[in-house]
Amino acid sequence: MNIFKSPSPGPASAKVNPITNTLPHTKPKLTSPKVTLNRPKALNALSTPLITELNAALLAFQSSSTIRAIILTGSEKAFAAGADIKEMAPLSFSTAYTTSFIESWSSLTTSVKKPIIAAVSGHALGGGCELALMTDIIYCTTSANFGQPEIKLGTIPGAGGSQRLTKAVGKSKAMELILTGKSFSGEEAERWGVAARAFPTYEALMEAALKTAETIAGMSKVAVMAAKEVVNKSQDLPLRDGVEYERRVFHSLFGSQDQKIGMKAFAEKKKAQWSDE
Ligand code: CAA
Repeated sequence: MNIFKSPSPGPASAKVNPITNTLPHTKPKLTSPKVTLNRPKALNALSTPLITELNAALLAFQSSSTIRAIILTGSEKAFAAGADIKEMAPLSFSTAYTTSFIESWSSLTTSVKKPIIAAVSGHALGGGCELALMTDIIYCTTSANFGQPEIKLGTIPGAGGSQRLTKAVGKSKAMELILTGKSFSGEEAERWGVAARAFPTYEALMEAALKTAETIAGMSKVAVMAAKEVVNKSQDLPLRDGVEYERRVFHSLFGSQDQKIGMKAFAEKKKAQWSDE
């Protein structure tokens, strides 16, 4: 099995059925589950079967009515050590081109509207770094090992690294990293804004990722989805267009029940009970 879909919190939680997307009603509500990359012998190298399983798991979580935020993680030793080099080695140009090799890796960026938190420990190299960069929030350990080492293999990043890493750290630093293949630590990732936060231990990382996922899960589903949408637009649109887009979505939220509920609860000094409408 290349991934675990491990619901959280705790062993009593429900299992998602990826075929029907249903959750047993007798179990506690599951709001912020974890997907764990699980190819330990290959340091979670991202093979086609692994990505297929990952996409299926994420789509099942996207379809679930109770799940509100997702944690994507690997092991303490490796988030993912990159695309599977042994799978890629014999590929020809025509096969890679005509099968759109690697395109499906990015499907989470368009098909998953719920927030994804990457909890990164150990190696996050090549495609592993790129996969983390596709998520919405990166948390990592200070000792995590990020990098785009593809140049050392005679190739270049192929799953968005040259674009997303450059947006995160700026052109000069991205050029240095991509042209030399030099790694950077979790501590640097936090300092440069690649990661939102870095933690001294694996346990602290996982605890914080879950806590943040649960905090997000406690917000209005409508507002969370809108917030993710507008922040992501900032990566594609010029500032003026982005600000206008944000304002339109902001205006549209006056049509939601949760805006009324949230503002009334504030005025009455109560905790908002979201309707998700
Ligand atoms: N693909 C396939 N197998 C991999 C792999 C990868 N990306 N990374 C590690 N493995 C395998 C190793 O071949 C080894 O398998 P065997 O035991 O069968 O030999 C096993 O995982 C353990 O690896 P190491 O013995 O090398 O472990 P280490 O602790 O000595 O080194 C490492 C760890 C520094 C991460 C090293 O494994 C490494 O450099 N891996 C490759 C990293 C890399 O270049 N990633 C970029 C891939 S290209 C890419 O991702 C393109 C893209 O943009 C999409």
